[in-house]
Amino acid sequence: MLDDTSTDAAIARLIEKAEGDDWTPATDIDWNLQIKYPFWFRKRTYRSLVSQFHHGEKAVMQMCDHLAPLLDDDEARRFVALQRRDEAKHADVYGAYAERLGGIQPMEPALDAVLRESRDWPGSAAGIILAFHMVFEGGAVGLIEKLVRRFPCPLFAALNARILIDEARHVAFGRHYLGRQLPLMPAGERIALYRWVQGLWYRAGAETRARYTWPVAMVTRLGSDWLEAGWQRQSGILIGIGLISEAERESLGAARR
Ligand SMILES: [Fe+2]
Ligand SMILES: [Fe+2]
Repeated sequence: MLDDTSTDAAIARLIEKAEGDDWTPATDIDWNLQIKYPFWFRKRTYRSLVSQFHHGEKAVMQMCDHLAPLLDDDEARRFVALQRRDEAKHADVYGAYAERLGGIQPMEPALDAVLRESRDWPGSAAGIILAFHMVFEGGAVGLIEKLVRRFPCPLFAALNARILIDEARHVAFGRHYLGRQLPLMPAGERIALYRWVQGLWYRAGAETRARYTWPVAMVTRLGSDWLEAGWQRQSGILIGIGLISEAERESLGAARR
């Protein structure tokens, strides 16, 4: 468990990094790199998959606007303002890439629904940060790392290499913020939050799996159990930050069976 001083110092360091690490999509990415489609997707499917990242980034920007006034410390608010700046760039970058593939496609309704529900979480800021910074951004980082390894497109790899540096910082913020808040939270509330984000994960993932990762899994060994394996990884991280204990996860698993 982190004490307040070390959390404050960690968030201050992340702000410093974010300030020093501003970049410009037009010049820091080599847009002359070639576009290569994965042969196992229809071009339309690939365009649509990339478009989901664009819409997701825009949803995270809206979350930042919504979250900032709920935070009671200046440092956390400062971080979220810098994060919003990052997400705006990410949305532009994925948008520009999708345009090169032929145009931005609509957002998947299931993704839209879970991101809205997470943003409008009526509880504390911790719930929103848990859903966005830990579950969605953490999950997106894991997925993007896999996709970059499997997809043949040099431009896709280059733009994600830059984006992932920012995303790692956002996930780290969530870990530090929650590391301070979770020990103050009653067990019932922690467990309710865990169940809520678990539901979000599976709902967001079910459609993604059916439409995108299943064909990917066939060819690339991403693993057709990606959703379940991903949740195992995520819930391990949530245990690490103190949302639930190993024993609580076991007993929740047993209750579901
Ligand atoms: Fe982002
Ligand atoms: Fe992010």
